Formats: sequence, structure tokens, C-alpha cells
Amino acid sequence: MKVEIVNKERPVLSEKAKAEIQTVIGYYPEGKSKSAILRVLHIVEEEAGGWLSPDTMDMVAEILNITAIEVYEVATFYTMFNLHPVGKYVFEVCHTGPCMLVGSDNIIKYIEDKLNIKVGGTTSDGMFTLKTAECLGACGYGPMLQCGKFYHEHLTPEKVDELIEACRRDEVKIY
Ligand code: FES
Repeated sequence: MKVEIVNKERPVLSEKAKAEIQTVIGYYPEGKSKSAILRVLHIVEEEAGGWLSPDTMDMVAEILNITAIEVYEVATFYTMFNLHPVGKYVFEVCHTGPCMLVGSDNIIKYIEDKLNIKVGGTTSDGMFTLKTAECLGACGYGPMLQCGKFYHEHLTPEKVDELIEACRRDEVKIY
């Protein structure tokens, strides 16, 4: 049986993204473009609406002139990459020891109850996805979460409420 491969999940890269990818690849010697993989995955994920489909990862492999499995290995290793569609705002709550000691479990439960989703889930309106993450390097500022490129620290239920409301008002920067 012939299997038809449809590349409908491939994003069309903006000129800005293409230029940034070329710049990043240019940091490395000829033939070593694989070294640019993390930054390129971030750029492409942003262009693709926040997640990496297999087709999108295949596209990254072509851009970097490496095999698709080399891209899958990296994209599936790091929790920061999303491998299925996510909400507009992805809350990645650190649940490693130092943050756990200051209440990250309570914050995770609070967000689950507030948004009526479980970790890994997305709200039915497509606004929020909740994930957990290992140490994000802000151990002195826990409990904390990352949303896009930005950290939200010393979280309390009140701060979570404010953050969610600000997201709903479209006032929270992601990139
Ligand atoms: Fe949470 Fe390090 S333990 S940021």
C-alpha cells in the first residue's frame, strides 16, 4: 500500500525566522550546523504555533542537513519542546526539590483546579497548557514557572490568579 506523506504541519517560515536561522548556523564551522539545533528548534517551534510535529522536525533536519532521527533525539529529550499542540500560554511549573520545598506541588494543584485540567492537559478554549519541568535554574525564587521565554517567580495562588487574568487580557509576553 502506498503511503502518502502530507506535510501540512510544516510551518511556512517568516523571512525574519529564515534570517535568524542562517545567522545561528553561521556561528558554526562548515559541516557543523547540527550544533545550531537547539536554537533552530526554538525558532521553528515558535513559527509553528508552539509545537513540533514530525513534519516540522523533518524540516529542521533538512535545514541543518542532518538526519531526522538526530532532530527527534534532541526534541524528545528536552521537556521544553512541545511535541503536540499546546495552548497559547504554556505554564511549565518547576517541581524539582528546592521549588517543591517552598510549595510547587500546591501551585501545580492550584493551577489544575483553577483551569480544570491536569498536568499535560490543555484548556478547552486552547488558552492554557500545564506542564511540569525539572529545575529551571531559578531555585532561589520558587515556586516558579516559565511561560514562553519568561519566568514568574515566588508564586502564590494570588499571583497565579493575576497571571491567568493577565493572559486572558492578552497582557502577558511569551516571546
Ligand atoms: Fe525550581 Fe531550581 S528547583 S528552579
